[in-house]
Amino acid sequence: MCNYYQFNMTKNIALLASGSGSNAENIINFFAENTNFRFPLIISNKKEAFVHQRAEKLNTPSFTFSREEFFDGEKIISLLNKYKIDYIVLAGFLLKIPQVLIDAFPQKIINIHPALLPKFGGKGMYGMHVHQAVADAQETESGITIHYVNAHYDEGNIIFQAKFPVLPSDTAETIADKVHILEYDHFPKIIAEIWGK
Ligand code: GRF
Repeated sequence: MCNYYQFNMTKNIALLASGSGSNAENIINFFAENTNFRFPLIISNKKEAFVHQRAEKLNTPSFTFSREEFFDGEKIISLLNKYKIDYIVLAGFLLKIPQVLIDAFPQKIINIHPALLPKFGGKGMYGMHVHQAVADAQETESGITIHYVNAHYDEGNIIFQAKFPVLPSDTAETIADKVHILEYDHFPKIIAEIWGK
């Protein structure tokens, strides 16, 4: 009885990343000793993304799908089902999530955005573009937003935000570093909080 209960408590989470994948690695390491969460696969839309090297080091299988395969959804959903995936985490994933995937995982997909939405969000607002825009606008603060994913870029319900002050001496690069520190600290904890019950 006890084992059966524990088995059912385990949440299988797919990580999607298009680039370096440092958040994906940080999340996997954070939960390494926690049997309630498993991260059995990483999916990318870029074969050359550094996240695949991280995946290899972490003994996590990683897969690449083309933009067309993403938008079609069929192959992805069948892979997610094969790995019994319950939830999806976008950790630096750049493609828009198609409706078919949102319908297959309703309210079960979250994203991290490297600014304080609704500011500095939407199409084209990713990576250094976001930090450069924050610096150019002479914002006095920036931060991170973790939100549910819907069919529009960066518009799903906000789950969590954290901020830091932007100093006049900050550049896009120093803002990016500060964002990453907040991401590493909060993203795994928010995953545990929303899906750990
Ligand atoms: C993060 O800042 C994330 O918020 C944004 O893309 C960046 C990915 O960084 N969406 P990494 O690949 O996890 O290092």
